[in-house]
Amino acid sequence: MKKSLSLIAVAAAFMVLTAFTFMDNAPAKYVGSQACKACHNTDKSGKQFAKWESTPHSKAFKTLQSEDADKIAAKKGFKTKAAETPECLACHVSGKSDKAPVYDASFKNDEGVGCEACHGGGSGYKMLHMKKENLEKAKAAGMLVPNVADGSAEKQCKECHNDKSPTHKDFKFAEMWKKIAHPMPK
Ligand code: HEC
Ligand code: HEC
Ligand code: HEC
Ligand code: HEC
Repeated sequence: MKKSLSLIAVAAAFMVLTAFTFMDNAPAKYVGSQACKACHNTDKSGKQFAKWESTPHSKAFKTLQSEDADKIAAKKGFKTKAAETPECLACHVSGKSDKAPVYDASFKNDEGVGCEACHGGGSGYKMLHMKKENLEKAKAAGMLVPNVADGSAEKQCKECHNDKSPTHKDFKFAEMWKKIAHPMPK
């Protein structure tokens, strides 16, 4: 009896280990900004969701569904509508510029440039990062935490805000960041 129990324990430990190994290698899935809303739309959190929803990032896909967008796509020589053109989607929907993004069924293109466009696909870290001491594990599971002070945030913005955008305007980081900043209360 004792022996079979310890065998079960060994088997269980092995399963946990392989599960972790698997987690490390599996690409993070894009789950959609709705998955962040429950915790990031409270006064205590700083209402990041409501802030994001009020910015043009949340409308970036809808913008591609406009006649103007189709005209821009046609002028660039694309035969497809803008909202179906991968070259346009690349900057207008979370994850679309990745080589092989993986989407959960919960993700909808409609959300445009969502939380995960800047913070990484959330499947691996969304339940892991809530404690400060887990932040490194969360990063290993795909979480991106760009930073304004060290310049990594500006660098990330310019992956989309650059002259490959057919409507590119000069990008002034400080000014643009002010429009989308979403701090946690101190
Ligand atoms: C179950 C609740 C919960 C969910 C769901 C959740 N978060 Fe969080 N998040 C938190 C809490 C709590 C903190 C504060 C952690 C701390 O004190 O360091 C946090 C912190 C963060 C931070 C700041 C990390 C740092 O230390 O700089 C980012 C970025 C973040 N979350 C993004 C997201 C994104 C993107 C999603 C959706 C994919 C998400 N969160 C989903 C609870 C949640
Ligand atoms: C994944 C691509 C992507 C990234 C990364 C990105 N943006 Fe954007 N951004 C867009 C798109 C697309 C629009 C246009 C949305 C629309 O109007 O439909 C936009 C629009 C904006 C706007 C509104 C336009 C204006 O002139 O007021 C601001 C402000 C902005 N972004 C700031 C930022 C900042 C700051 C960063 C970096 C922290 C950033 N963006 C990162 C794609 C991106
Ligand atoms: C366009 C890029 C972009 C998008 C979209 C975005 N974030 Fe962020 N987020 C950042 C950057 C850059 C920082 C770091 C700010 C800094 O260094 O002060 C940040 C910081 C945070 C923080 C930590 C704030 C603090 O005071 O430490 C949280 C929490 C967070 N984001 C959650 C979210 C959630 C939730 C969403 C979607 C509803 C979202 N973010 C959408 C770029 C983005
Ligand atoms: C390299 C990233 C990138 C690509 C590729 C891209 N866009 Fe955008 N798009 C942006 C950004 C960033 C903005 C907002 C700021 C700007 O206009 O520079 C934007 C804004 C727009 C706007 C709103 C313009 C306005 O003045 O309000 C339209 C329409 C648009 N894009 C259509 C398209 C179409 C159609 C394609 C494909 C042919 C496309 N975009 C490809 C990044 C991109």
